[in-house]
Order: sequence, then C-alpha cells, then structure tokens
Amino acid sequence: MIHQKRRQELLSRLSKGAVVIVSTNSEQKRNSDVCYPFRPDSNFWYLTGFEEPDAIAVFSEKNYSVFLRPKDETKEIWNGLRLGVDLAPKKLLADQAFDIDKFFEKIHSLINNKSVIYFDAPGNGGWKDNSSTNIHNHKINSIYESVLHPLNPHISEMRLIKDKNEVKNMQKAANLAADAHLKAMKLSQPGLFEYHITAGFDSNFRKRNSEHAYPPIVASGENACILHYTENSKELKDGDLILIDAGCEINGYASDITRTFPINGKFTDAQKEIYEIVLDAQRAAIASIKPGASSNLPHEVASEIITKGLIKLEIMKTPNDLSKFYMHNTGHWLGLDVHDVGSKLVENKFREFISGMVTTVEPGIYIRKDDRIDSKYWGIGIRIEDDVLVTESGNHVLSEKAIKDIDAIEHFMSEA
Ligand code: GLY
Ligand code: MN
Ligand code: MN
Repeated sequence: MIHQKRRQELLSRLSKGAVVIVSTNSEQKRNSDVCYPFRPDSNFWYLTGFEEPDAIAVFSEKNYSVFLRPKDETKEIWNGLRLGVDLAPKKLLADQAFDIDKFFEKIHSLINNKSVIYFDAPGNGGWKDNSSTNIHNHKINSIYESVLHPLNPHISEMRLIKDKNEVKNMQKAANLAADAHLKAMKLSQPGLFEYHITAGFDSNFRKRNSEHAYPPIVASGENACILHYTENSKELKDGDLILIDAGCEINGYASDITRTFPINGKFTDAQKEIYEIVLDAQRAAIASIKPGASSNLPHEVASEIITKGLIKLEIMKTPNDLSKFYMHNTGHWLGLDVHDVGSKLVENKFREFISGMVTTVEPGIYIRKDDRIDSKYWGIGIRIEDDVLVTESGNHVLSEKAIKDIDAIEHFMSEA
C-alpha cells in the first residue's frame, strides 16, 4: 500500500501524461561465477517494495506494469525462488506483469505520443547493462523519439522527507549500530587487531538480520587520518585511539555512526584536548538543527569551533588552514542510501531544514605528522558522528544511545 501511495504522490508532482520508468540493479559479479550480495536500487525499492534483481516498473495515472524475471525451475533450484510473472500483479498491486526480456516489445503499448517519459539511465549495476547504460538510454530514446525527463530530482524530494514508518526503521538501525559501538568499546584492548573489532560489528549486525550499510572504517592510531580507511588489518596499540565509522541497514534504511575512543580505555591529555574540540563542535552543530534553519548551519557552527580550538592549541595559525585538519563536510542526508538523495542547494541557496529530514552530524579533526606541530598531537584522528532527525520542535538524535562524553566512555570501558 505504502508503495502505491508513493507512486501516486510521485505522479502528482510530474507533468500531465507522465509515464515513469524505473529499474533496479542486476546482480554484480565478484569473481568467476560468484556474485556480491544483492541490494535493490533504492529508488526502485522505494516505489515498488520489490527486492529481486532485474526488474523494471512502468507506471502512469492509467497503468502500473512490472517487468521481471520469469519463473525458471533450474535457476530456482540453484539460486532461489522468483516471484514470477503470474503472481506479480497480485503481490505488487500491478495491473499487469511481463517477462523482463519482453520490455522493448511491450513498452510500446504503455506509451503514446502524448506521454511525458521520466527515466534515469541506470547507474553502475543497472538493469542488464552494466557497462553501457548509454545504450539503454539510447534505445529508449530512439524508440519514442521523445526527450526523457530526469526522474531523480522528483524522487529525491520525496525521499528527503521521511514518514513515520521510515523513521521507525531508521531508529532501529541507529539503535542496533549504537549497541554495536558500545560492544566495540568493551571489546577493545591492546594486542587485538582492527579486524577483531570489525568482526564484532559483522556479528552484531548479522545476528539481528541486518547488514553493514557501507564498508566499516575501523582505524586505530594514525590510520584514523585516512578518511576512507577500510583495510581494518592493523594491531591495536596501547595508548592509541581507535576511530570506528560503522552503521547498518534495517529494511533498507541506514544508520551511520562514528565513535572514537582510547584502545586501553583511558584518553591521554593530548587526545582529550582534541576530542573536546570535536565534541563541542558536534554538540553545537546538533543544537543548530531545527525547522527553518539553514542546512549549512551545522557546518558553519562546527567549522568555527574547530578553527578556534586548533588556533588556541597552536596547531594552526590562521582559519585558512582549517581544511588541512578538517577536510570534509559536517553532514549529509541519510535514508535508504547512506549518502542519501536530496540536494543541499535550492536555487543556489542552502535549503532549510524541514521536519522529517534526517542528516548526519560528523565533525572531525585529523592531525598527520608535521614538524610544525607539537609531536604529542601527531597521528590523532577523531570524528564523532550521529544521525539526527529534524522534528517539529527541533531535532532528535537517533543514535543517542552511543555514549560520547569522555567521562562516560572511560567509566563504561573500565566496567567489567
Ligand atoms: N560512513 C560514511 C560517512 O560518514 O559519510
Ligand atoms: Mn556520514
Ligand atoms: Mn560515517
């Protein structure tokens, strides 16, 4: 039902005569005859709820048709059951269903000269055409001799505002990931390797039938200064920090949490100095989030606090040097995709927060070896990341169960 409502809502935002064509992914080869675990295309999933690979939905005010893989006894014995063409209309609330290989044959009957077609060429992994999405696009173009209108901007506007059910899923994903971060704090000790900590996340997510929403970053010591470090292979050293950026998916909805804490449970003075700047920046950035506030305000607020803090510690001399130590933005939208859809700009101005949006807030400081900086700070990389829902009255931190105060972390890690 929810998917039907979404299709109707989408059509109400498009031109008269709109026909939407939206496809999901194909399975992606990993090596030989081994595929990566399949994950549906987010737009397709949002509009249909259908989770099999190789499918296309075509819908207008008059008709909803689905193209999907036909039943195949041998393939189903080897690889798993398929919904199939006969059962698809009832299950997906469609008017009709066809074998996906009949797409270019049947699509004529679903479109006429007055149709305004909304379609995005599939990205990497798109339907049946992994390497040449342009051919796919071209094929559709040449058949209808019409200009294709981009669909993404319209779906993105819808996906940007989460309804109650989506928020429920995101709260569950945040709770599960927060719990896994707490367990990692308990597990951590010198002599283990980063992959032991990673394995804790794998296990905690899988035990609740969840998956990582993105490759986890488990970065001890100076590895934390590599923003997308995913080797997760080094030994945990006494006296170092560990930065963990890990989140999971519940019914497709992501959490995205980062915590940084001392491997041995006790911050050094230098680590505390940097951590406190990041935490102050993060708390102030979160406090700035409410309906009507600029979506760039958290970044402005966090950048100012980090700038002042680093100048005070004589780690940098002028605000112009900030990007050497803080080189990413303070947040991104979160939803079905970890870097979720929705532009930050509307008509070249930062859009305002609206109740129902979910953003991350994730300031950080990364100090690589540099002879101009006191060596006690070398190799410190700290990021603190929470998932924040904009509410009518301000905001709610979905990931609040993951502790982040220095005292709270040290106390928690010292408990048996
Ligand atoms: N985990 C990716 C990010 O924080 O944006
Ligand atoms: Mn993030
Ligand atoms: Mn993250």
